[in-house]
Amino acid sequence: RIVYVNGAYLPEEEAKVSVFDRGFLFADGVYEVSSVLHGRLVDNAGHLARLHRSLAELEMAAPASDAEIEAIQKALIERNDVQQGLVYLQVTRGVADRDFAYPEGVQPTLVMFTQSKNLLQNPQAERGIRVITTEDIRWKRRDIKTVGLLAPSMAKMIAKRAGADDAWLVEAGKVTEGSSNNAYIVTRDGTLVTRQLGNEILAGITRKAVLELARTSDLKIQERPFTVPEALDAAEAFISSATTFVMPVVGIDGQPVGDGRPGPVSRRLRELYISMAL
Ligand code: PDD
Repeated sequence: RIVYVNGAYLPEEEAKVSVFDRGFLFADGVYEVSSVLHGRLVDNAGHLARLHRSLAELEMAAPASDAEIEAIQKALIERNDVQQGLVYLQVTRGVADRDFAYPEGVQPTLVMFTQSKNLLQNPQAERGIRVITTEDIRWKRRDIKTVGLLAPSMAKMIAKRAGADDAWLVEAGKVTEGSSNNAYIVTRDGTLVTRQLGNEILAGITRKAVLELARTSDLKIQERPFTVPEALDAAEAFISSATTFVMPVVGIDGQPVGDGRPGPVSRRLRELYISMAL
């Protein structure tokens, strides 16, 4: 696989980043994941817009223009012959002698790579995924897409060890989001509920598209926190992210959601999202 590091396209074995890179030492960096379908980027403008917001919140300068970044993404898709999968892009503050305070004018480190993955014929989408709920122990700026991903990694391992597919994170009795996706329920009266944007969750690019699709489908929408009991009592549940699209959730903490199979609203929104993305 060919990867990109600071201006160079290299075989992954030859790509190098300094041990003093602040991304490595402090998780001082941000990232984006854009999906690829039929060799083309999905909703990439949204991902680049969020990248700029994340960078601005951390007072980091953009390492390249949007046009340059997109040209690199496309070159990697081409060189690695990605038909379906993702492009990962990461900007870290750069290399500086270890100190919590960083000096001015550090050159950011830009790394990008691709992963080929079958996103459309995902067996999980057919049967739905099972989640467990666990305390949301992340920091208070989850709206910034930083590479500090230890808490969600731990949550995902808790889920895996419990035989589940993913974790829903809970704070003060309310679901914030999934370990790496946004969380939704469909109530028995057909209302789509997902947490409102704020510092508590990441503003998913897929979430935005899903809510637009729900709106044009005349679904009732409520952007508000919901509890775990409410989710257990819901007709349907699902998650969304760039790499899962809309993915039905058929079990929470070992209990079935609805009849334990992917529901009509989740399936419809998945179809609509995919046909829009293609
Ligand atoms: N994760 N919430 C969190 C905490 C996330 O990490 C993600 C994305 C999302 C969904 O955002 P989007 O729809 O823009 O992908 C919500 C990516 C896919 C990842 O970390 O791999």
